[in-house]
Amino acid sequence: MRVLVTGGSGYVGSHTVRELAAAGHEVVIYDNLSTGDRRLSEGFEFIEGEIADGARLAPVLDRVDAVMHFAASAYVGESMTDPRKYFRNNVESALKLIDAVLASPVRTFVFSSTCAVYGIPQACPIDEESRKEPINPYGATKLFFEHVLEAYRVTHGLRYVALRYFNAAGAHASGLIGEIHDPETHLIPLALKAALGSAPPLTIFGSDFDTPDGTCIRDYTHVSDLGSAHVLALEHLAEGGASMSVNLGTGRGTSVREIVDVFHALTGIRIPHQYGPRREGDPPCLYANPARANEVLGWVARRNLEDILTSAWGWHQKFESKTA
Ligand SMILES: NC(=O)c1ccc[n+]([C@@H]2O[C@H](COP(=O)([O-])OP(=O)(O)OC[C@H]3O[C@@H](n4cnc5c(N)ncnc54)[C@H](O)[C@@H]3O)[C@@H](O)[C@H]2O)c1
Repeated sequence: MRVLVTGGSGYVGSHTVRELAAAGHEVVIYDNLSTGDRRLSEGFEFIEGEIADGARLAPVLDRVDAVMHFAASAYVGESMTDPRKYFRNNVESALKLIDAVLASPVRTFVFSSTCAVYGIPQACPIDEESRKEPINPYGATKLFFEHVLEAYRVTHGLRYVALRYFNAAGAHASGLIGEIHDPETHLIPLALKAALGSAPPLTIFGSDFDTPDGTCIRDYTHVSDLGSAHVLALEHLAEGGASMSVNLGTGRGTSVREIVDVFHALTGIRIPHQYGPRREGDPPCLYANPARANEVLGWVARRNLEDILTSAWGWHQKFESKTA
């Protein structure tokens, strides 16, 4: 299939386009480079553009079979301080994108959603039917857009899979692409940068959570595994599969302390760190029940925490030495 990938110059999008290409699909990347990096789209057709720009999208949509929509503003903290940016980009601009899609023959749509739609879960693991009460504007925008997709399924025959990822992590096996965010707010890159001395010591927010070692538990999923789930979601829709929202996680919770310890065991290097207060609204524990992804898409996360840390470490050493 030919797939338009919005946000394909970003972290998860750039890894997914490589999974799409490996599965024999053609890719057109569409990105405004607001947080993406042009280098991550090398080797693929690239169009610089805004998702709100229907006129620019129309001719592209005429020559693709499906859309994968990664383009978004995606910093939880920033969404608390600048919610207008989030409602504008993730809702207003995304609605213009979906209008352009509905004006085209394309009806197959894969959406990057997030575990932030659940807010503070009542229990872990979290399945798709768990209560959805986002606690920040970022999660609210993503849940809103899931409602849009469902409504347009009913009225416009849109067919979609919304993939609710937990924490994307790791780097591509080629060593050529990996996680770049500016500013960096994600735990593993911050930890590895601290290990390299290119960032201050890692601050671990909270050591008194009700978890075995007192630090937060999250579900770190290798970004290439997320990419392969997108390919399976596309193929599921192509085969006439039902529209739905699907969790993407390993089903295993990992604490921040465990990341520091496993990294030390793998490399012999200690991540310089200090403990800080809890961040407001940080749930103690978030990990997925990935049963639906397994049953419906035939997906499981194949890579574990060691694979994540090893690939990310390889990438960060190379990337930091280039940018130093
Ligand atoms: N990284 C994670 O752990 C994670 C977890 C859950 C969900 N997600 C979702 O996955 C998607 C990708 O996240 P990421 O971590 O790769 O972020 P990213 O910032 O690396 O990628 C987003 C990409 O979208 C582009 N973009 C943003 N707004 C645009 C617009 N208006 N028009 C065109 N392009 C635009 C950016 O330039 C960037 O290349 C996002 O939708 C995010 O909400 C990410």
